[in-house]
Amino acid sequence: MVSPTKRRVKVVEPTNSHSLFFNNLESKMTQNPSRHHPALVSLHWLLALLIMLAMGMGTFVLKEIPNASPDKLGALRGHMIMGFAIGALMMARLIVRLRTTHPQVASTGSNALNLLGKSAHVGLYLLVFAMAASGAATALQAGLPQMIFAGSAGSLPDSFAIYAPRVVHGWVAKLLMALVALHVAGVVYHQFGLKDRLLSRMWFGRR
Ligand code: HEM
Repeated sequence: MVSPTKRRVKVVEPTNSHSLFFNNLESKMTQNPSRHHPALVSLHWLLALLIMLAMGMGTFVLKEIPNASPDKLGALRGHMIMGFAIGALMMARLIVRLRTTHPQVASTGSNALNLLGKSAHVGLYLLVFAMAASGAATALQAGLPQMIFAGSAGSLPDSFAIYAPRVVHGWVAKLLMALVALHVAGVVYHQFGLKDRLLSRMWFGRR
């Protein structure tokens, strides 16, 4: 019979340099990753697409259809569903942003430009929430949810401009377009001016 001492399996304990390497790697992956979390990346590009669509359709299609047209309710239904989806996904995005680790702030080398970039990011969240809220308030004031989703009889006003939230919705839309343009200009400056490969941080891959 083999004595218990002879059967003992040799366990390789990590040496100090091993543990140091893995500790560093782990801390790099969790504390200071090279990219954003994949959930945040997915939400970023999905929201970019949906917001562009909602802005384009709102400005060039929805607004152009007279309220007396039989097509108006269908167009409003599509816009409202998309608008609510954007509001909900933006909230999910904010939660993911607050709960995941991100790469270090990409510095431009200028404090003023860094502040502008940070303010633009905060502004994008605020304006998108303002769009969803002012759109929802307009719809509630006009009784759209009952008309569109509950099939109740009702008529649209000649123009939604009689409601204050609709006026806000139009102005915030213009501000949001300007801020999106500034955001894109910032990315182009990082990517092609500073050549710091900023875009790769907002894409999938090893963190
Ligand atoms: C964040 C998402 C949203 C975006 C990006 C967006 C975008 C737009 C845009 C660009 C317009 C045209 C504004 C103008 O040029 O004056 C518009 C109009 C409108 N939106 Fe939104 N919207 C959003 C959310 C919503 C929501 C959630 C609702 C309602 C539940 C809504 C209801 C309306 C209504 C009723 C109009 C007026 C259409 C007209 O005047 O004929 N929107 N939206």
